[in-house]
Amino acid sequence: MSHGNHNHSGVSPKSVSKKWSASEIEKLKTEILEHGNLPYHIAIIMDGNGRWAQQRGLPRVAGHNEGVKSVRDVVEAAGEIGVKALTLYAFSQENWKRPTWEVSALMKLLMRTIHNELNNLHKQNVRVKTIGHIELLPADTLKQLLGAVEKTKHNTGLILNLALSYSARIEIIDAVKNIARDVQHHKFSVDDINEMLFTKYLNTADLPEPDLVIRTSGEFRVSNFLLWQIAYSEIYITDTFWPDFRKAHLFDAIRDYQKRERRFGKVSEQVAAEKPKKADSKKTAAVK
Ligand code: FPP
Repeated sequence: MSHGNHNHSGVSPKSVSKKWSASEIEKLKTEILEHGNLPYHIAIIMDGNGRWAQQRGLPRVAGHNEGVKSVRDVVEAAGEIGVKALTLYAFSQENWKRPTWEVSALMKLLMRTIHNELNNLHKQNVRVKTIGHIELLPADTLKQLLGAVEKTKHNTGLILNLALSYSARIEIIDAVKNIARDVQHHKFSVDDINEMLFTKYLNTADLPEPDLVIRTSGEFRVSNFLLWQIAYSEIYITDTFWPDFRKAHLFDAIRDYQKRERRFGKVSEQVAAEKPKKADSKKTAAVK
């Protein structure tokens, strides 16, 4: 999420992205499924709604409205190919500093979208979760959101994790405070603190780390998103604005991910030797 309409990345974002035919999309989907190495968890920084609208001489809110269609499309597409978790950066802690009318419009849009989409999400077996300080959301939006979390809590399909009023630095500070409290209460000692323990104190304790992070609109920034969790994520930046980012663009990003070699600090030869055979390459770990 950027804080203005200027792009400093050197990439010139496209107002209209490549058009994909239905058969091209099907072909991409087949390629992805044949490859097998699906990203288990995808996290997306949805950016460029304002610029999408500005390029059309429309109010910023029109970009957010169109962005909801992209959310719907991408959620469906992720579920369709068997991605297990999708985290969407829908509203950052810093976004509270936007003009009051825009914050209010975004909150209303979020409430309306959850209301309109909930039955459909439930039918698709999607489980809605949240990260961030959602207690700061307006009461009516929060109520709608908690209703969606509750209604879908037993669903076993895609986990749709909405980052709302989210700041990775605050998440880390919250974790540090809670760990310090637990040390004070003698639950464990300072020497027991390690990466695994720390991870359990984050909002994402019950999710695996993102395999793939996508940022739209050509900005090369992380913007206080999942700072701890993306240590080894693959990053995919596209100059397509979020309202233009649809199923085909998600599939394209996944194809790109599948062509990469994730080394986690090792050398290629080690990675090749450890590679599981195609049939058992899918992760099977259950998500709590
Ligand atoms: C970034 O574009 C986008 C946002 C701040 C909000 C994203 C919200 C939605 C897509 C709609 C509601 C979400 C859900 C999950 C239903 P920007 O405004 O920063 O664009 P700009 O950088 O071009 O100004």
